Amino acid sequence: MEIYVTGAGGARPTVPVSATRLEAEAARAMTQEAAAYVIGSAGLEASMAANRAAFGRHRFVPRVLRDVSARDLGVDLFGRRHRAPLLLAPIGVLELVHRQADLAVARAAAATQIGMVFSNQASVAMEDCAAALGTAPRWFQLYWSSDDDVVRSLLARAEKAGCEAIVVTLDTTLLGWRPRDLDLGYLPFLRGMGLAQYLSDPVFRSKIPARPPETGIRPRGAKLLATAYGLHRKGREFGLSMTAMRAAAAYFTATYSRPDLNWTDIGRLRAMTSLPIILKGIRHAVDARLAREHGVDGIVVSNHGGRQVDGETATLDALPGVAAAAGDLPVLLDSGIRTGADIAKALALGARAVLLGRPYVYGLALAGETGVREVIGNILAELDLTLALCGLDSIAALGPGCLAADGPPG
Ligand code: FNR
Repeated sequence: MEIYVTGAGGARPTVPVSATRLEAEAARAMTQEAAAYVIGSAGLEASMAANRAAFGRHRFVPRVLRDVSARDLGVDLFGRRHRAPLLLAPIGVLELVHRQADLAVARAAAATQIGMVFSNQASVAMEDCAAALGTAPRWFQLYWSSDDDVVRSLLARAEKAGCEAIVVTLDTTLLGWRPRDLDLGYLPFLRGMGLAQYLSDPVFRSKIPARPPETGIRPRGAKLLATAYGLHRKGREFGLSMTAMRAAAAYFTATYSRPDLNWTDIGRLRAMTSLPIILKGIRHAVDARLAREHGVDGIVVSNHGGRQVDGETATLDALPGVAAAAGDLPVLLDSGIRTGADIAKALALGARAVLLGRPYVYGLALAGETGVREVIGNILAELDLTLALCGLDSIAALGPGCLAADGPPG
């Protein structure tokens, strides 16, 4: 109501309310490299399209004449009440789209009291975002580096920064095949972008070799200049020389992930942190069962927004099977969430909450903190309206019976 009244009073929103126009305008506002990196997905981008198409195959069957004057969007997650079943997904390299990057996102999360998941590849150190977040919830997302000392240090910092869960992303042990980036010959990490968690980490810094090792990567011409400028700028921010930055970027690319990661490592992780462990990137019901058997605390059904495997199942389609296999483990979902109605569908099909990905990056690209705040506000307003107009007064009332795929509610 507040959003309608404000709009009717002549105050136009800063960023488009329509999810489609939001993406289109952000695409125009971003540099070619940023747009390719943020919007692009793996291969022919079939997984990304499938993620969206799956939402279109489920329809609400609203009920009427039920008192919906008081509504509650709140949800309990890992011992804390969240004001809504929504957190901001971990998204790396945000300085590609806005100078204030993660800091603007943290301020928007604080203003809306929505949880933020700090990316391992953030452009701003987690401590700075934690300070900007105030009392809003925060989790830390881990890419499990092949250097366990660095992992331990990141986990300890996350605990100190007030993170309430560790989200281990499992679908990116290797970077997916992304033609839009490949066509531009572009990898932001080589310009020092998205390395803030490492460059601010004392253990990582102690491991930076004195000289950059031979990487075989030799940018030329404009690319050389852009790479050198990026490294220089990021180095200055963290008090590192150009040589140290080149060495740091090379050490990062050599150690960023461990493709040999397997279930026994999850047991090791349990011993490294007392925080709840959430596995992000589960799509198969068998993996959900294994997750439960290995004592993790939660699951995110995610295909990284279709950025990793081209032609895989939509996360919404995988959700019911994963949720059934997960038993009483909380299951979250991301990949394809664009509207409040999408959130309601995901919850009806078994998700406890969702992570919002690209839409908030589009808001950031167009209007910084204000843009992110508006995107969050619009999505929550639509979720609230969807609940009410479906005759439901709380998130807990959402279930398969609200959707037509299971037949009209009985
Ligand atoms: C991501 N994602 C991601 N995931 C993660 O665990 N760590 C990260 O650093 C990133 N970085 C990242 C960058 C960009 C540009 C995108 C688009 C995505 C994946 C993210 O958390 C989430 O799973 C997807 O964004 C969900 O898909 P949609 O809804 O954005 O399409």
